[in-house]
Amino acid sequence: MYSEENSAAHPLCVALLFGGLSSEHEVSRVSAGTFADNMDPEKYELIKIGITKDGRWLYTEASSAQMADGSWEELPGNMPCAISPDRADHGAILFTPAGHVEKLHIDVVIPALHGLWGEDGTVQGLLELAGIPYVGCGVLASAVCMDKAVANALFAANGIPHCAWAAYTRAQLEADPDGIRAALEEKLGWPIFVKPANAGSSVGISKASNAAELADAIKLALENDRKVVFESFVDGQEVECAVIGSEPAFSTRPGEILAGAEFYTYDDKYKNGVSETLIPARLSEEKLDEVKDYAARAYTAVGCEGLARCDFFVERGTGRVLINEINTFPGFTSISMYPKLMEHEGTPLPQLIDRLVALAMERAVAHHG
Ligand SMILES: Nc1ncnc2c1ncn2[C@@H]1O[C@H](COP(=O)(O)OP(=O)(O)O)[C@@H](O)[C@H]1O
Ligand SMILES: [Mg+2]
Repeated sequence: MYSEENSAAHPLCVALLFGGLSSEHEVSRVSAGTFADNMDPEKYELIKIGITKDGRWLYTEASSAQMADGSWEELPGNMPCAISPDRADHGAILFTPAGHVEKLHIDVVIPALHGLWGEDGTVQGLLELAGIPYVGCGVLASAVCMDKAVANALFAANGIPHCAWAAYTRAQLEADPDGIRAALEEKLGWPIFVKPANAGSSVGISKASNAAELADAIKLALENDRKVVFESFVDGQEVECAVIGSEPAFSTRPGEILAGAEFYTYDDKYKNGVSETLIPARLSEEKLDEVKDYAARAYTAVGCEGLARCDFFVERGTGRVLINEINTFPGFTSISMYPKLMEHEGTPLPQLIDRLVALAMERAVAHHG
């Protein structure tokens, strides 16, 4: 259904950002490789910019395999580079070994970055300043979805059901640990899921079944953020929808994650390959449509554009559909749900990328004229 083509006569200069400072650095490198492998060189002139774990930006001519395995960082041809906020540049500045500065025009950016300092509105803010169109959500929706407490509050305000939850800052938790534990016990019951408000890929998340475990879980979460989200445990199927575009947004029906461990951990998601995905999820036709409808509503409610993956639980027994979170730049690895769901609904990766790039250009016109 998505058939827009870029003119082959004028390849678009697309900058692919990958890596980044977050705990999802490695996943981002693999996601970026998927983009690179599925973009027609006749249509796109690809400019690859890697961000190291300590935040250096390097122009690189690495292959997707070198991006994925990390060896890209050592390539002799890499050059320090920066996206210029100066709109006259409309692109990147390269610092050559000879000490010169070169400008590189960029038509559109694919920020294939997951987690903090990439998927959270920061890079999106830089690109807004630079006036360069980019794939995915804008500053606000990216920031909202990165913060699980703010996202939960917006879901509640928009009538998107979520499990019972609460959030406290480090200062609050330190000032009144006993009072907060009692309040959580009363509001959520055991077990309690404990999450850093801003994190991703299950890093810093744990499940606490008693007061001692709760204290450890809070400590772990506070290592990752100064704000902690607490949720009641949902015994349910984990299902996810791929959503694309805006006004109107289109959602696929959900696929299902079969977690390998007790819950869906970082290692399951990206390393062990023990999680399996089922498309569509094992739900009735009505339930599939209900989740799909909630996905488009939740995405629209928090102002997503471009793409996002909306994750839900369908509670065992009651069948209640509860939103878990929205990922504004979901994984694009070979086992990732977003591209699989889109492919299942008839949009293979190369066409999906064409569509995402086209949406980025349309968004820039709609926002800035
Ligand atoms: N309230 C909950 N009840 C049951 N399982 C949960 C709950 N919240 C999270 N999980 C489990 O933990 C995983 C990671 O939590 P999530 O909020 O999605 O964080 P992340 O941003 O790291 O993906 C989920 O995929 C799910 O398996
Ligand atoms: Mg998740």
